[in-house]
Amino acid sequence: MGVNYIIFNHFILIFFFISLYHINAVDRSKFKTCDQSGFCKRLRASKPELSPFKIIRNSINVSSIGVEGSLVNADTEDFYSFLLQFLEDNTIRLRINENKIIRHRYQPLKALISEPYQHPFETIELLDDYLFFKIGSIKVKFIVSPLKLEIYNKDDLVIVANDLGKFVFEHYRPKPETINEENNKNGEWEERFHEHIDAKRFGPMAVGMDFSFPGATNIYGLPSHADSVSLKTTGNTDPYRLYNTDIFEYELNERMALYGAVPVIQAHGLNQTVGLFWLNAAETWVNVQKLSESGFNSNVMEKIVNLVAGGTKLVQNSGMNTHFMSETGILDVFFMCGPSFYDVTRQYSRLTGAAPLPPYFSLGYHQSRWNYNDQDDVKTVAENFDKYDIPLDVIWLDIEYTHDKKYFTWDPLKFNDPESMVHGLAAKGRKLVIIIDPHIKRDFGYFLHNDATHRGFYVKNKDGNDYEGWCWPGSSSYLDFLNPEVNEYYSSRYLLENFKGTSEDVHIWNDMNEPSVFNGPEVTMPKDCIHHGDWEHRDIHNIYGLFYVMATYDGLLKRSGGKKRPFILSRSFFSGTQRYAAIWTGDNMAEWGHLKMSIPMCLSSALGGISFCGADVGGFFGNPDKQLFSRWYQTGVYLPFYRAHSHIDTKRREPWLMGNETMHLIRNAIRERQSLMPLYYTLFYEHMQTGAPVIRPLVMEFPKEKETFDIDDQLLLGKSLLIKPVVEADVTHVDVYFPGANEIWYNKYTYQQVKTNGVKTIKISQNEIPVYIRGGSIIPIRNRIRRSSALTLHDPFTLIVALDINGTASGQLYLDDGESFEYRNGKYLLLHFTFLNNQLMSKIVDDGRFKTKAWIEKIIIIGIPNMFRTGIINSDRGQEELEAKYNTDEYSLTIRKPGVSVAVEWSISLL
Ligand SMILES: *[C@@H]1O[C@H](CO)[C@@H](O)[C@H](O)[C@H]1NC(C)=O
Ligand SMILES: *[C@@H]1O[C@H](CO)[C@@H](O)[C@H](O)[C@H]1NC(C)=O
Ligand SMILES: *[C@@H]1O[C@H](CO)[C@@H](O)[C@H](O)[C@H]1NC(C)=O
Ligand SMILES: *[C@@H]1O[C@H](CO)[C@@H](O)[C@H](O)[C@H]1NC(C)=O
Repeated sequence: MGVNYIIFNHFILIFFFISLYHINAVDRSKFKTCDQSGFCKRLRASKPELSPFKIIRNSINVSSIGVEGSLVNADTEDFYSFLLQFLEDNTIRLRINENKIIRHRYQPLKALISEPYQHPFETIELLDDYLFFKIGSIKVKFIVSPLKLEIYNKDDLVIVANDLGKFVFEHYRPKPETINEENNKNGEWEERFHEHIDAKRFGPMAVGMDFSFPGATNIYGLPSHADSVSLKTTGNTDPYRLYNTDIFEYELNERMALYGAVPVIQAHGLNQTVGLFWLNAAETWVNVQKLSESGFNSNVMEKIVNLVAGGTKLVQNSGMNTHFMSETGILDVFFMCGPSFYDVTRQYSRLTGAAPLPPYFSLGYHQSRWNYNDQDDVKTVAENFDKYDIPLDVIWLDIEYTHDKKYFTWDPLKFNDPESMVHGLAAKGRKLVIIIDPHIKRDFGYFLHNDATHRGFYVKNKDGNDYEGWCWPGSSSYLDFLNPEVNEYYSSRYLLENFKGTSEDVHIWNDMNEPSVFNGPEVTMPKDCIHHGDWEHRDIHNIYGLFYVMATYDGLLKRSGGKKRPFILSRSFFSGTQRYAAIWTGDNMAEWGHLKMSIPMCLSSALGGISFCGADVGGFFGNPDKQLFSRWYQTGVYLPFYRAHSHIDTKRREPWLMGNETMHLIRNAIRERQSLMPLYYTLFYEHMQTGAPVIRPLVMEFPKEKETFDIDDQLLLGKSLLIKPVVEADVTHVDVYFPGANEIWYNKYTYQQVKTNGVKTIKISQNEIPVYIRGGSIIPIRNRIRRSSALTLHDPFTLIVALDINGTASGQLYLDDGESFEYRNGKYLLLHFTFLNNQLMSKIVDDGRFKTKAWIEKIIIIGIPNMFRTGIINSDRGQEELEAKYNTDEYSLTIRKPGVSVAVEWSISLL
């Protein structure tokens, strides 16, 4: 949840809650434009002219570590060192730092899962003008003057670093005696924004570079923005901004910063996809433009490229350029050379990690509200889900459950018996999620504030005193998670003996961790605040929220002795957050536009490595009408995190309060979700293994089909379900784009086939949104709907076998206990299904040490032209005959009760 409205007036803090119905858009003046952000203004203005940076040729040392050496800014005579490294899996890393270390620069290495592995490379040529290296099919030309890096895949030039010569590295310098208009033209030493003055102890220290992608037509990535998946060019607008902030009622189709920052992009063209990861946790802006509009003859455009190995080649007048600008930090950039889209997402996940398997329940339906009033309210809500026969996995408690917004405490009146409440939920396989935020109420009756004060655990202001800001509890200070002692202390708060009333069935929501400071500059912490290690807040801002969820994760692990998988929802995120937490799109609104925007926002997050994403179903602010509400539930089924949530000023909106008809639509949606959980779980397993996102834009699966490049009002769940959410009121038809020239798409409800490659208008009802199964896939679902997903653990499966034009299909099913880490000891089952030559086979891919009673209760084969009547099943029980029923309208064949265990291998031949 976010701040409503705050005015900071000299020394008096006035805290207004203005009814949300009076404001319907973000107050833009509270957030900086590029021109108001000194370094962005300075760096954006860097002229596309010859870069003054040159490599000092005789400093170069080529060793097994990589290529090291020095470079100089010929204008200022400042020296820098560089390190170029070749990593496994077609990835290259370039680091540049200052030589003269007045002060260290922050490197957000916690974003990386580990130190990346190096890979042997070949040196092809070391000439005076350039150095030439090879690693697999990738060639790298490192040009001495001006500094430039060209990366080729085979003989195609795919990335050029410093192509337009926009590399800037502001070196640390002594502070002038007086700060005046001359030395502070663009906020070099002091920056004022409204009443806030940012004292820049260390002066200007920004880092920027431009990167061209000659073969690319589209750039994706840079979550989080309320914008299209394919990034827009920013010639006439502000650049995309990455600066984690608590933004109130954010606007759509905007490049403004939101809650999360993932500085990774994918550059895609017809021939290949490459990626770039800019590892920097400071405020960052990114310009995106077409090379043809750059106003400069880039290396890519101007000439015939001489290829040492491949002769000459004319490079077309196309391609994209991005300009990354960060306020501080070193230059640390990873080039992920693809060449396919899936290669790039895998390469990125090798650097920053993939999400570990989430606990099974967390893929189910979550019911939240700010706030459920008391423990009886929670009990009644849960009972009503049973009464109305709607599955429910989790109930959530927002800040009001605490005693006066003091985290790790319960309101002594409203929640005087949390144990019973949690036990009541757990008895039906349900969980509780409660909120814990990083701001701490400054109240000397509060143990946490006392401990933090006495042990020096708070972030300091620029004068070295505990920083005080304003947040939900009023005057608050903020735990400094850069300090390992703070993490140790904080994570221990989650031990069951420390946090009374909780159990292993209680999971955590970390909100406001940008961090949100209601009276701070841009609703966050002043950049001149000081963290452990003498880092300024500006150095680490975008990674603060990640540090926070890491500590929470550690706490939940400790609580169960490392046995149970934690579930955490985080609002703020950075590269690497996927290893610890799910995210959501923050404080959205009950408007159709926000429903629509939830799809590109989560697709972008998924491309940024964070697949576990959703949007507040129904919209956080405002009251959705029935139609919007049910459409939102129908859409939410197909985003990985499925939670309804709403603001304290909104009307209650549990499904049964919306009238019988709407309640039925919602019930169907949530049941649909529960039935799809085996598919989701399998996709999360695949994500963990390969880094492939759980939800995908169409371009990932159809990278050579130009029409897909800009589509983000449709999505793919895995590669087998195509979804077109209905995001407008009163529509009876929607246009669906069907990708793939040789694909068959089957309506999920009627099995009707679509063989069109292109747009087809589809008639819709209120009951469902268009969902199509891709021919060639086998989808595992569970059709027995229960009160919670925990109760389905040993339930049987139904397989939907959707045939492609060749009459074949394949798919996987992953299962385990759904809550422990025993899968890491081999206690899981991975099945591979194939349908070929009228035979369906189930093979156990792994040794299957997970014991389950689950079995196959039904198989539906769709798109099958032959009227088979019988199937012969071969399994551990020998050969048996099965009855098959053919439906001539649907071209579907249903085999009921094959009755075979999933833990054995079997095959069914159709006769
Ligand atoms: C080159 O780098 C290697 C590895 O860091 C180092 O051992 C060696 O001393 C360096 N050689 C020179 C000439 O600096
Ligand atoms: C794509 O590859 C084809 C075949 O190699 C080549 O002719 C074409 O120029 C390439 N296009 C781009 C944009 O690189
Ligand atoms: C509620 O709606 C469902 C589905 O529209 C319908 O089948 C049922 O009869 C309705 N019940 C009542 C009490 O109106
Ligand atoms: C069908 O088979 C042909 C020939 O083996 C293959 O090239 C094609 O990719 C297959 N089509 C599909 C949709 O799998």
